Amino acid sequence: MADDTVWSEESSELYRQLAQVAVPVRDEQIATLLTLLPFGKDEPFRAIELASGEGFLSHAILDSFPNAKLLALDYEQSMREQTAQRLNHFGERAAVAAFDMLSDDWYGVLNGVDCVVSSLCIHHLSGDQKQMLYRAIGSRLTSRGVLLIADLVAAQRPEANRLFAAAWDKSAEAQSSAQTGSRAAYDQFVETRWNYYLHPDPFDKPSPLFDQLRWLNAAGFAVVDCFWMQAGHAIFGGYKAREANPNGATISYEDALTAAHQALSTAYNQS
Ligand SMILES: C[S@@+](CC[C@H](N)C(=O)[O-])C[C@H]1O[C@@H](n2cnc3c(N)ncnc32)[C@H](O)[C@@H]1O
Repeated sequence: MADDTVWSEESSELYRQLAQVAVPVRDEQIATLLTLLPFGKDEPFRAIELASGEGFLSHAILDSFPNAKLLALDYEQSMREQTAQRLNHFGERAAVAAFDMLSDDWYGVLNGVDCVVSSLCIHHLSGDQKQMLYRAIGSRLTSRGVLLIADLVAAQRPEANRLFAAAWDKSAEAQSSAQTGSRAAYDQFVETRWNYYLHPDPFDKPSPLFDQLRWLNAAGFAVVDCFWMQAGHAIFGGYKAREANPNGATISYEDALTAAHQALSTAYNQS
């Protein structure tokens, strides 16, 4: 991202324009997160999405789990407006509110929540701030709670950094042609120096995956793991409970992909 220190409405506009190209396989990432939720399809649970952006993941969760309730939090007003619009038809099951991930004044909303998800924002926190966040979530989630994160992670070796950089570039180039039929979005990805592994900047502070798994474990998550990774983007997280959901099967990856496509289809002809 650009070298600003605060996320602005312009950052949101650029992200909305380029995300379908800049984020590797967004549908697969959303489907992966949904499949990992340890809840039966009809089971009631309370979820929070941190930095919900346009609200696609929140939409997919509410669509897949008809008895779930979800609070979508984001810092930037235009993103909150888009989320509120996208979630409007879920009625009282959905709520949208402002928060700043860099502060701790919102931690109270985590009390008694079963599920926290977040995509592409936690890397704005320093290592210490991430640990504080993981402890805040770990201590407030219910005993069946889960925290799932999709985010950039730091390479620990120059070889890995080169791999992440090249794979992300290739992904953006391929998605530009496949999703938009043109190279223009990829050219913008290059011009805006979006690829963190080629253009590190002080606003983005990804931490190594292994460190984050240790921090999650120390924050009270009994089972921690990485479930998916591509081009420096990882999906990882922790479960408070060791044992599987006693209430039966969680949703299938196939159904999760359908819900991801459904959520994303509300997007690309809009903003
Ligand atoms: C890269 S976008 C990701 C949006 C969405 N989660 C997704 O994966 O498409 C980053 C999001 O984080 C939000 N954000 C940036 N800084 C934040 C902060 N300090 N606190 C809360 N949200 C923040 C932005 O408004 C934006 O919606």
